[in-house]
Amino acid sequence: MSCSIYRSKCGHVPDKKINRSAAMRVERRSTDKSQTTIATPLPPMESKKDDRRPIQRELPEMFRPPINRAMRTLDRSFFQRIVPLSAARIFKASDIAKIRKELTKSNDVLAVPRVNAVRHMEGNDGSSLKALLLREDLKADDQSTWSPTISELVQRGTVDLAFYDLTLDYDYWTYAEIIHSILPEDMDEIPQGFTQVGHVLHLNLRANYFPYKHLIAEILMDKNPTIETVINKTEDVGSHSQFRTFPFELLAGKNDLNVIQHEQDCEFRFDYSRVYWNSRLETEHRRLVEKFRPGEMVCDVMAGVGPFAVPAGRKKIFVWANDLNPHGYEVMQDAVQRNKVADFVTPFNEDGRDFVRASGTRLLEAGPVTVTIPHKVRRDKKRKIEAGEEEQLPPPPKYTRPSFVDHYVMNLPADAIEFLDAFPGVYSGKDELFAPNTEQKLPMVHVYCFSGNSDNEVEDHIDICQRISERIGYKVTIDDRVGGSGDQEVELAIHNVRLVSPKKQMFCASFRLPKEVAFRKGGEGLPALNCQIETAEFNLKRNNLIQLTPPSQPHSSVASLSLQYPPHPLSLTSQPRHPEITMSVQLPPATHRKRALPQGELEAASTLKLGADQHTHTLSLSEARLVIHKVLENKRRGGNKYEEPENLTKTLDYLDVFARFKDEENIKAVERLLNSHTELEMFERSQLGSLCCDNAEEAKSLIPSLQNKISDGDLQELLDELTKLRNFTE
Ligand SMILES: C[S@@+](CC[C@H](N)C(=O)[O-])C[C@H]1O[C@@H](n2cnc3c(N)ncnc32)[C@H](O)[C@@H]1O
Repeated sequence: MSCSIYRSKCGHVPDKKINRSAAMRVERRSTDKSQTTIATPLPPMESKKDDRRPIQRELPEMFRPPINRAMRTLDRSFFQRIVPLSAARIFKASDIAKIRKELTKSNDVLAVPRVNAVRHMEGNDGSSLKALLLREDLKADDQSTWSPTISELVQRGTVDLAFYDLTLDYDYWTYAEIIHSILPEDMDEIPQGFTQVGHVLHLNLRANYFPYKHLIAEILMDKNPTIETVINKTEDVGSHSQFRTFPFELLAGKNDLNVIQHEQDCEFRFDYSRVYWNSRLETEHRRLVEKFRPGEMVCDVMAGVGPFAVPAGRKKIFVWANDLNPHGYEVMQDAVQRNKVADFVTPFNEDGRDFVRASGTRLLEAGPVTVTIPHKVRRDKKRKIEAGEEEQLPPPPKYTRPSFVDHYVMNLPADAIEFLDAFPGVYSGKDELFAPNTEQKLPMVHVYCFSGNSDNEVEDHIDICQRISERIGYKVTIDDRVGGSGDQEVELAIHNVRLVSPKKQMFCASFRLPKEVAFRKGGEGLPALNCQIETAEFNLKRNNLIQLTPPSQPHSSVASLSLQYPPHPLSLTSQPRHPEITMSVQLPPATHRKRALPQGELEAASTLKLGADQHTHTLSLSEARLVIHKVLENKRRGGNKYEEPENLTKTLDYLDVFARFKDEENIKAVERLLNSHTELEMFERSQLGSLCCDNAEEAKSLIPSLQNKISDGDLQELLDELTKLRNFTE
C-alpha cells in the first residue's frame, strides 16, 4: 500500500475559472427570462407570498465565506478561504472516468456546489497527474476515514492520496452566500427576487436593508454580468406619476436607464425612468396575445411601450395602441418600426377614456384596410417560377383590418376599472350592425385590476364584478362566467395574474360588452356618478367652464353638481338645465339636531320624494370635494392660470370643513362599502357617507327614509365600517 502526503499549491487558478462560470449558471437559472432570481433554487416570483426567503444553507460550514458583519464598503479581497481537503491522484490518465465512477458510487468524491472535483496535481516525481477531490471528512493520512473502495484502489496501486488546499474566493460565492456573511445574524432573510430590465436591476428594498443597500447592489452587479446599473425604488409605482413610473435612487453602476429589453421576440428600447415596464408581466402579455386571432382588431387602451401590441402585431393582429405618456408613445412608435409591425400596429397618444369613446366610430369611419404579406422567395426560386420550371406560389396571405373592435385591453390595474365608464354608448345607434342583426359580436373587454387577495378567492371575484357593474351601469355577476348559471352572453372569465404582495392580487377580468351598455344612448344612465371625477375632467377639458351655485336657500341641504355628458359643460348648479346626468350633493346639517323636513313637493322624510332627482346619481360631500379639486387641478395643469369664481371658493371652503373623507383611496373605499348596500337608495348612501353618524338611531333620525330599509344591526355595522375607514388614514 502506498500513501503519499502532499499539500498542493496549484488549486487556485483552475478554481477561479471553473467556479466563476458555474456560479453564473446558478445565479441565472430562473426559467422566466424576465426575472433575475438571485441566489439559488427559488420558485418563480409569481408563486410566492413574499420575495424574501430564509437563506438556503447549501454549503457545509467549512466552505462558506468568512464573516464580516461590520463591512459597509465592499472589500472583495476579504472573501477568501483555504479549505484543506484530500485528493485521489490517478496514476494513469486513461483511468480517470472509471475511477471517478467508482468513487462517485461510493460517495467519496467531493460534492459541493460549483466545485469541480477534477484537478491537476503534481505527482511525487514531479509529473502532472489528474486528481479527484474527496469528501471533506476523508483524510489522506487517516485510513480509518477511508471507504473500502478507496482502500482497495490504493492497495491496487491505481491511486494514492494527497492533501489539497482548495482556495475559494469572492468569485466562488453567490450573492446570497456573501451577503449573508455581512448582514446581521438575526436577519435570517435576504432581499431577493428582483427584476431586471435591460441592463438595469431594479430592487425594492425594505427599510431594514437600507444600511446595506450599496453593498447589496455591488454584489448583485458583480454576480450578474448583464447588469450594469442597480436602482432601488424609493416610492411605490404610480405614487409620483400617472404614467406609472416610480422614483428611484441609483445604488451601483452607471447612471443610464436607456435599456434594450426583449419580450416575446420583440425588441423595445426605452428610458426606464420615463415609461412603465414590468418584466414580470411577460407571461400575462403572452397569455392574452394568444387569445387574439390573426386578422382581429384590438384596442390597447393603456398600451405602455407596446408589450401586448407589438407581439400581437407580429402575429398579424391589428392593434390600435394608445398611451397617455408622450414618451411611451414615442417608444412605441420606435418599437413598431424596429419590429416591423407598422402595417398592423398604430400608436395613439390620448387619454384612455377619449380613446375608448372615439374608438368605435373612428374605426368604422376609417373603414377596412387590407395588408398583403408578400412571400419570401429566394431569387433563384423566383427565377425558376418565372421560367415555369417550378409551380406558381399560392396567392400571398391577405389580412383585412375589421371595422369593429374585437378586443379592448386595459392594463392599468390601479384604475382601469374606473375607465370602464367610457364604454356606455360606444356603439350607440349602431345596433343594426351587430348580432342578432348581423354576425358581428360586440367586443371583449380585458380589464386589469387589483383586489385584496382574500382567503376565499370568490370574494375577490364578487368584488371585481361589483366594481365593473358600477362603472358600466349593468349588473355583471360571477355566475356570468363561462359555464356558470348566469348570463352566458357575458362570457365572464377572471384570471389571477400574479400576487403583487401578500395582500394584493392582480387579476384580469374578461367579459363581452353587454349590448345594453354598448348601445346606450347619449351616456344615459351612466353609472355611479360619485365615481365620475374623470368624466368631469373630460368634459371640462372640452368646455373650459364651471358654473357653480351653492344651495339657494340658507337652510337648504341640497346643492347639485350637474354633469352633462358630452359635449355640454360641467356645471355645479342648484337648478340643473335639463342635465342628462345630475350629481346631487347633500350638504350635512350644521348640527345633529332634528331639523324641519323640506316642504313642498320635494321631501326626504320617511319616504323619499326627490322629484326629477329621484334616480339621480348622488355624491357625498367628500366625493363632491374630490371632483371639484380634480377639475380645478386639471384646469391649472401645465401652469394655466384659472381664477375660481367666488361661489366656488365658498363651496370649497364649506366642503373642506364638512367633507368627512379627504383621501381619494379612502373615498373610493367608502363608495364601495356604501354601494354594497343595494337595498338603499343612492341618495341615502351618499347621505350616510356625508354624515358619518355615530349610531343607527342618529342615522335614522337624520335620514328618516332608512327606517324600514335596513335593520339597526346592519346599519350599525355599516357605520362602524365607515368609522374604521375614517380612522384609517384621515
Ligand atoms: C400598468 S402600465 C401598463 C402598460 C402596458 N400595457 C404593460 O402591460 O406593460 C399602465 C399604462 O397606462 C398609462 N396611462 C396612465 N393613465 C392613462 C390614461 N388616462 N390614458 C391612457 N393611458 C394611461 C401609463 O402611461 C402606463 O403606460
